[in-house]
Amino acid sequence: RLLLLTVLLAQHCADAATSIQPHIVTIILDDWGWANWGYHDRLVNNQQLQEEVQTPVMDALAQDGIVLDRLYVHNVCSPSRSAFVTGRNHRHVNLINGPSTLYDPSLPLLGTWGVPAQMTGIAEQLGSAGYATQHVGKWHLGYASRADDSNTLLLPPATARGYDHFFGYIGGGNDHWTYKISKPSNGCCGRASVDLRDDGAPAADNKPAHACGVASQDGCLFEDALFERQVTGAINDHADLNTTQQLFLTWAPHAVHVPLQPIAAQEARFDFIDFPLRRKYAAVVNDIDRRIGRVVSTLKRRGLWDTTLLVVISDNGGPSLFDGGANNYPLRGEKGFNTEGGVRSNAFMAGGFVPQAQRGSVADGLMGIEDFYATFCGVGGVVTLGGAKAAAAGLPPVDSLNMWPYLSGAVEASPRDLVVVSDGHQPQAVIDRLGYKLILGETSSKVFQQIEPVQSSESRKQVRSSGKKAHNRRNFECSACHARRTQD
Ligand SMILES: *[C@@H]1O[C@H](CO)[C@@H](O)[C@H](O)[C@H]1NC(C)=O
Repeated sequence: RLLLLTVLLAQHCADAATSIQPHIVTIILDDWGWANWGYHDRLVNNQQLQEEVQTPVMDALAQDGIVLDRLYVHNVCSPSRSAFVTGRNHRHVNLINGPSTLYDPSLPLLGTWGVPAQMTGIAEQLGSAGYATQHVGKWHLGYASRADDSNTLLLPPATARGYDHFFGYIGGGNDHWTYKISKPSNGCCGRASVDLRDDGAPAADNKPAHACGVASQDGCLFEDALFERQVTGAINDHADLNTTQQLFLTWAPHAVHVPLQPIAAQEARFDFIDFPLRRKYAAVVNDIDRRIGRVVSTLKRRGLWDTTLLVVISDNGGPSLFDGGANNYPLRGEKGFNTEGGVRSNAFMAGGFVPQAQRGSVADGLMGIEDFYATFCGVGGVVTLGGAKAAAAGLPPVDSLNMWPYLSGAVEASPRDLVVVSDGHQPQAVIDRLGYKLILGETSSKVFQQIEPVQSSESRKQVRSSGKKAHNRRNFECSACHARRTQD
C-alpha cells in the first residue's frame, strides 16, 4: 500500500510539473538592427523611420508581452548562438565565427570549431525533462565535433547536440533562392554547394529548380518561406499528437542576414526607399514579421499559444557597412563592434505563459544571451544545469542565470550584475547595473580592417599608427579606457 501511495504521489507530482511547463518557441533573427524594429522606432520621433520599418506583428506581441530592454549578445553570429545553446558566455564556449567547413585540430576547444559536444545543450536539457525538440534554420555552431577523445566525429551537428530534429543550413548564410553557400570560399572544394539539411541528410526534396535565383523567382521558394513551412509543420504535427508533451522549437530565420534578396513583390512595397540595400533590408524585415504572425496564428489555432513562452531576439546588431542595410539608431556602432549598436539586441517575450501582471512591461535589468539556458531550464522543470560532462572534459562551467523569477515579477531585480562582451578570451567590455560600460583596448577591429583598403594610403598609415599607439599605451594609463553611458 505504501508503494501504491508513493506511485500515486509521484504521478501527482509529475502531473503538476507537466501542467506548468510551457512550450518554448525561440526565434533568433539574424543581424536585426535596433532601429529596424517598429517598437523602438515609435520611441524616436522620425516619420521616415516609422514608414521604413514595418513590424506590426512583433510590435503588438511585445506590447502584450515583456520587452527585454537590456539583452546583450556577442557582436557576431556564431559566438552569440553558441552562448544561447550552451549557457556559457561566448568567451567560455566559442569565439570563432567560422565557415561550416572549418576543421582545425589545433583549435582550443577539443580540436574542432564550434560548440563542443561535451557541453550539454539546451535542447538536451529540455529533452531530459520530456520536451520534444527541433531546430529550424541557421545553425552556424560548427559542423563536426569529437564525441570524446576517441576522435569519433559526431554528425549531424544539431542532433549531436541534443535536438530531436534539425532542418536548415549549417553555415553562416546561404543564397535565399538557390540555398547555395553564397561565398565560394565557404563552400567545399572552392565550389558553391547547396547548404540545406534535413537531419543528417541533404534536404534533396527541397532542392530548387536549376533556374531559381533572385532575378527569376517564379515557381521558387524563398528560403524563409521554406523554414516557415517547416515550423508550422512542426507545430501542426505536435498538435496532431494530442499529447501532454511540451515542444521546444528554435527557429533561426535567414532574415535579415545578407545576401538581401527579398521577394520582388515585397521589395516593391518599399520602393519609396531610394537606397537599395536599405530598401531590401526593410522588405526582408517586413517579410519575417508576416511569417512570425502566421506562426503565432498557427500556435493559437492549434491551442498551444496559451501555454507558450515565445522569445524573439537577434544574434547581434544590424550591419550598416558593405552589403548590410540596417540601422541601429540611436545606438552607436553596428555588427562586429562592442559598442551598443553591436551587442544590445532587440528582444521580447510573449505568449500565454507570460504572467498577466507582467504583460506590457519593460524589463530593463541586465541579461546576457547565455541566460536563456538557465531560464528555460527553470520554467521547463530541468533539475540541473548539466555541466558535468563539460567539467570532466576540462571545459568551463555554465555561466547562465535563471531570469524567470525576475521576469515573472517574483523578485524585483535581475540576478545579473555584469554583462561581459569580448572578441577574445579576456573581457573587452563590461556593462553594469547602472548602465555604465567600460571598454578596454581597441574596439573590435575586424570591420575596421575591412574598411582600411578603401581609404587613401596616407590616412591608412595614420589609422595604423594611432591604433598602435593606443595599444601600447593601454597598459600604462587609462586613456584607452572609456566609461560612458551605454546609450551613448
Ligand atoms: C485528445 O486527448 C484528450 C485526452 O486524452 C481526449 O479527451 C481528446 O478527445 C483528444 N482529442 C483528439 C482530437 O483526439
